[in-house]
Amino acid sequence: MSYVEAADAPLRKNGKIKIYGPEAFEGMRKAGQLAARILDAIAELVKPGVTTAQIDTLVYEMTVAAGAQSATMMYRGYRYSVCTSLNHVVCHGMPNNKPLREGDIVNCDVTIVLDGWYGDSSRMYAVGAIPRRAERLIEVTYEAMMLGIAAIKPGAHVGDIGAAIQEFVEPQRMSVVRDFCGHGIGRVFHDEPNIIHVGERGQGPELVPGMFFTVEPMVNLGKPHVKVLSDGWTAVTRDRSLSAQFEHMLGVTETGVEIFTLSPKGYDKPPYSIA
Ligand code: MF3
Ligand code: CO
Ligand code: CO
Repeated sequence: MSYVEAADAPLRKNGKIKIYGPEAFEGMRKAGQLAARILDAIAELVKPGVTTAQIDTLVYEMTVAAGAQSATMMYRGYRYSVCTSLNHVVCHGMPNNKPLREGDIVNCDVTIVLDGWYGDSSRMYAVGAIPRRAERLIEVTYEAMMLGIAAIKPGAHVGDIGAAIQEFVEPQRMSVVRDFCGHGIGRVFHDEPNIIHVGERGQGPELVPGMFFTVEPMVNLGKPHVKVLSDGWTAVTRDRSLSAQFEHMLGVTETGVEIFTLSPKGYDKPPYSIA
């Protein structure tokens, strides 16, 4: 166990899902809104010729300016403030100095820590005009995330979320990645419960008001299989098909769900109409 994990150990996975109160909701709202504001700013930066390293700099500067920290910087040896997953990269892509090109699609995933609360969210970005199949993949992935979130209410089960996503994605001849999942979040980055993006209704833990977690499905145009490159981070589709992901962070409420990471500018999914 690294010292990072050891430091978190008292707060971490003991098999129990934490239940939070109103003050925690307020902390998560603020953290979620900072992550969402940073994702909005990325929408205004992304265009052909921009590098993912420039995106990383923007994220770092906005994080520091807000009095927050990056949760990913130095996390298990990761060295950036954002994950930038391009085209066939499924997740955990690392920023670099290669310019984005017209037709690329890229997921930017930001996790910040504000006043001890984690804010984790990601969106897809289109670089200029993109192919129709890439547009469809992004549409389906966004819709899949929102259908998964719509299944959340007290008394529902974690399996209902995965079932809603899988039942929507697979008939469109796209696939849901199995190797990465959503996660509980709060004062630690990755906590109970795991949110698997496939499943069966009624299975898994029951949802209770005060639970915090992410829904972050990864959808591939081809097969669901993933491999991690020798850098130890970059996960790509084995068949090199395009992959997309969206991520919201939310809390279960008495009546349903509160999404903490909604876009202040309404930049929900591309094409973002920049004001
Ligand atoms: N933000 C990712 C998530 O949704 C985790 C990134 S970990 C990193 O859980 F180290 F790669 F940044
Ligand atoms: Co996450
Ligand atoms: Co994330």
